[in-house]
Amino acid sequence: MFKQSNVKYNGKTFNLEGSGIQKKETRAKDLAGYFSDLSAYQMLDPETVMYQVEYQDNGLAEGTPGGLYFGITHLYPGVIGEEYYLTKGHFHAKRDTGEYYFGLHGQGLLMMTENGETVLEEVVPGSVHYIPGNTAHRLINTGAEMLSVSACWQTESGHDYAPPEEMFPQRVFRDKAGKPIIENNS
Ligand SMILES: [Fe+2]
Repeated sequence: MFKQSNVKYNGKTFNLEGSGIQKKETRAKDLAGYFSDLSAYQMLDPETVMYQVEYQDNGLAEGTPGGLYFGITHLYPGVIGEEYYLTKGHFHAKRDTGEYYFGLHGQGLLMMTENGETVLEEVVPGSVHYIPGNTAHRLINTGAEMLSVSACWQTESGHDYAPPEEMFPQRVFRDKAGKPIIENNS
């Protein structure tokens, strides 16, 4: 029997379409404490949508062993002060579980930190990123357009949103030439 998948990726809009697509928005007010320039952060409308995550509800409860989830993050472009828009980032609650990211649209960085060591991988359409277990990970939009990145992770993984300064010792700013530069947290 031939059967069509009930979820499809739309390569023009970079969105998922079909049944069971769940969407979550993260707004500026949800990111208190994540940006270094407090006064610039406070000037932003707290309802500003910073990123959206969509994923397929495949019926598996989080924590189910052996399963996978698939989703896409859409991170808006912009800076607060000179710090690029970013996602909160997280560890997995089950720390040793890995994850794949796959760049769909836009230009950005995948920040990965393990034991205080940070790696920044350039995310572009078509780039594939393996995030090992025990690694805090976040996306940073260094481009002028929406950064859309798909992800596949284990149903067992869960999320642990540890305080940002505990997860990431470095930040990425826009320099005077408009290029990303890395700075250590002061
Ligand atoms: Fe993750």
